[in-house]
Amino acid sequence: MPLQNERPLIEMAGVNKWFGENHVLRDINTTVARGEVVVVIGPSGSGKSTLCRSINRLETIQEGQIFIDGELLPEEGSGLAKLRSDVGMVFQSFNLFAHKSVLENVALAPVKVRKVPRKDAEKRAMELLKRVGVEAHAHKMPAQLSGGQQQRVAIARSLAMNPKLILLDEPTSALDPEMINEVLDVMVELAKEGMTMVVVTHEMGFARKAADRVIFMDEGAIVEEAPPEEFFTNPQSARAKDFLSKILTN
Ligand SMILES: Nc1ncnc2c1ncn2[C@@H]1O[C@H](COP(=O)(O)OP(=O)(O)O)[C@@H](O)[C@H]1O
Ligand SMILES: [Mg+2]
Repeated sequence: MPLQNERPLIEMAGVNKWFGENHVLRDINTTVARGEVVVVIGPSGSGKSTLCRSINRLETIQEGQIFIDGELLPEEGSGLAKLRSDVGMVFQSFNLFAHKSVLENVALAPVKVRKVPRKDAEKRAMELLKRVGVEAHAHKMPAQLSGGQQQRVAIARSLAMNPKLILLDEPTSALDPEMINEVLDVMVELAKEGMTMVVVTHEMGFARKAADRVIFMDEGAIVEEAPPEEFFTNPQSARAKDFLSKILTN
């Protein structure tokens, strides 16, 4: 047996999931190494969000196993709470607490979940807000910020728990075009700093610049996985070729 810290950070083995009759994850077998950046692409409805959500157990799976850092995903209880703080998640829709200030959004979980003293949590929150370039807005309410700024706050909030990895599900899809790059730049920096990331995105520039591997999904299955240059220049399957021809021409 390898030592626990030599195992991949994420391991998915024989994962299957159904929503009723709909088989949405089909025999998923893959691993994500420490510090690896994986971009997941594929048509709408192919299971990308469900894959992410099953990694932090926002969705349950019916078959197979998912290990995070060598530990089987907990079913419930304190193990699940720990998992949620080890696995950061950033959604398309930001999901900030609307009635709390930007600073409070970032400091809240460390105070409530980790019992970090408020003063320390706020100091660290300011550092994180600075890192994502929105420290000037710390005392505003989320609605006073642009979408790009709110999404950067959401990234800072997930970093506040010192997660082992971050899942980002279409983090720029709800943004006006001029705001996409400010969020992608933060993500590229995170990747460079060695954060383990699983990113669902159609931003091929990000994939080329920051991804170690692209996973292409279709109809719930992983159809191809390859380094970005290889995948974009020489996709193997007809489905990937068809998908790329659609997204790269418009
Ligand atoms: N909460 C849900 N209840 C029932 N079906 C769902 C639910 N969420 C997703 N699905 C279905 O699962 C499939 C995969 O969806 P999803 O993971 O959201 O795909 P993607 O993120 O690639 O667009 C789709 O057929 C979708 O309709
Ligand atoms: Mg989705």
